[in-house]
Amino acid sequence: MKKKPDCIERGYVIGINGHFPGPTIKAQVGDTLHISLSNNLSTNEGTSIHWHGISQHGTPWADGTASISQCAINPGETFHYRFTVDKAGTYFYHGHYGLQRSAGLYGSLIVDLPLDKKEPFHYDSEFNLLLSDWWHNTSLHQELALSSNPFQWIGEPQSLLINGRGQYNCSMAANIVNNNNNATLPQCKFRSDNEECAPEILHVDPNKTYRIRIASTTSLSSLNFAISNHKMVVVEADGNYIDPFEVDDIDIYSGESYSILITTNQNPNNNYWISIGVRGRKPNTPQALTILNYKKTSISSSNIIPNSPPPITPQWNDFNRSKAFTNKIHALMGSPKPPTHYDHRLLLLNTQNLINGYTKWAINNISLVLPQTPYLGSIKFKINAAFDRGHPSDNFSGGYDIFNPPANPNASFGNRVYMFRMNQVIDVILQNANVLSGNNSDIHPWHLHGHDFWVLGHGDGKFKQGYDEKRFNLKNPPLKNTVVIFPYGWTALRFRANNPGVWFFHCHIEAHLHMGMGVIFSEGVEHVKDIPKEALACGLTKKIPMSFFNTTNN
Ligand code: C2O
Ligand code: CU
Repeated sequence: MKKKPDCIERGYVIGINGHFPGPTIKAQVGDTLHISLSNNLSTNEGTSIHWHGISQHGTPWADGTASISQCAINPGETFHYRFTVDKAGTYFYHGHYGLQRSAGLYGSLIVDLPLDKKEPFHYDSEFNLLLSDWWHNTSLHQELALSSNPFQWIGEPQSLLINGRGQYNCSMAANIVNNNNNATLPQCKFRSDNEECAPEILHVDPNKTYRIRIASTTSLSSLNFAISNHKMVVVEADGNYIDPFEVDDIDIYSGESYSILITTNQNPNNNYWISIGVRGRKPNTPQALTILNYKKTSISSSNIIPNSPPPITPQWNDFNRSKAFTNKIHALMGSPKPPTHYDHRLLLLNTQNLINGYTKWAINNISLVLPQTPYLGSIKFKINAAFDRGHPSDNFSGGYDIFNPPANPNASFGNRVYMFRMNQVIDVILQNANVLSGNNSDIHPWHLHGHDFWVLGHGDGKFKQGYDEKRFNLKNPPLKNTVVIFPYGWTALRFRANNPGVWFFHCHIEAHLHMGMGVIFSEGVEHVKDIPKEALACGLTKKIPMSFFNTTNN
């Protein structure tokens, strides 16, 4: 459909039921959601939707990953997702096929506690902000660019969006700032407050506590979120309670979600800026702004603009500041603790490579290319020809120099699977490295499907087996489903392979994923029951007799 998220019309935005972003789905713990997804795309491409952060216990076929948990939904087809939400928190959903997230296929998913249960913190009311980044080029154009030789990078987004609304090439604060990166931008003019790109304003009463849910479904950008004059207390991360801590701003990477509490204790005759800005990559995108409006002030658009400048986004490359924020996140007392030992450890080296002259990302030198037949079907029904049954490598060469461009930049394509035994404790050490050329190392937010993991630690340089693990936090590591690896650094995480299914583990930067930056985990698939036929009606699982499937629920 046509839409103007940042006031500029772009030919092609993927919406749901005529809306962009898609509708906010609200549920309660224990609810079973039935969601019918019909592919009505005019671009003649497949689709699927992933429910980011939902464990899919017992329903791995509903995870929404094309080629892994299901067949892509072809144009004209309808797929029926059916799954139970078992943990309260701030989640979202998004397309998991091609670059459809960058085309706008996403929305919020909020899971509330049952009515008789209370959150471990108090608030009077809540808001929900879904953050994203926006390009004027279509996703199809981006796909073409990424897979061309010579390689063309998609570049920085034109706009940042808050709940699907942004301001291209203008700033709401232009008239009052001279020290921010908005300085050279003209003042935004919205012809009316209900224009589709006009920001959603947060109306608050004085002296109340508000919970603000913040999730980032950006395709690329790492963001910093701040509200002028208001401290925030961080209480939830990726659907898990954390030990509350107070900050002026938060960093949020693609795939993460947080809840923060603010108290509206400032002068109620003023309004205050809410800002998001880019971190971790040299920004070329203006801050997105909206307003915290104390209801005491009138909201005629002439005086709604706060009279002080918006928060300044911290320096994009101040990684020590980012690390300091990340290191503040600890599990709330009483949260599940990690097992003290692991059964199996993977060391995964993240590199940018060349394959036949094409630029790719690889993990332990393999750039992932998904097979035609969804893994869940080919593993369950033992169809050996569907993918390479060899063991992917658990480690990388100890001599690899992570601080310089690769001595041998060549990698290969592959589609092998890490197969875990049920209930094994798995450690993953994600190791970052220098990119193909020049002196640089990118940020990668890694997301695991089907599980939360404990973040045991981060470190600079190369992970030293037997030494760095002595500093692992086994006392109160946070449970998350997405975690960042910093430039030239490593991140260690631990999880229990206790969820029968096949699960994607990948960089949440959509272009990196598209260029092969992911691996596949599988555990206990023999225990998976009731896969609906429509999940596997493609590739080598297409001809499996009906009697193997669950036919009761469509
Ligand atoms: Cu939100 Cu596989 O991603
Ligand atoms: Cu990445």
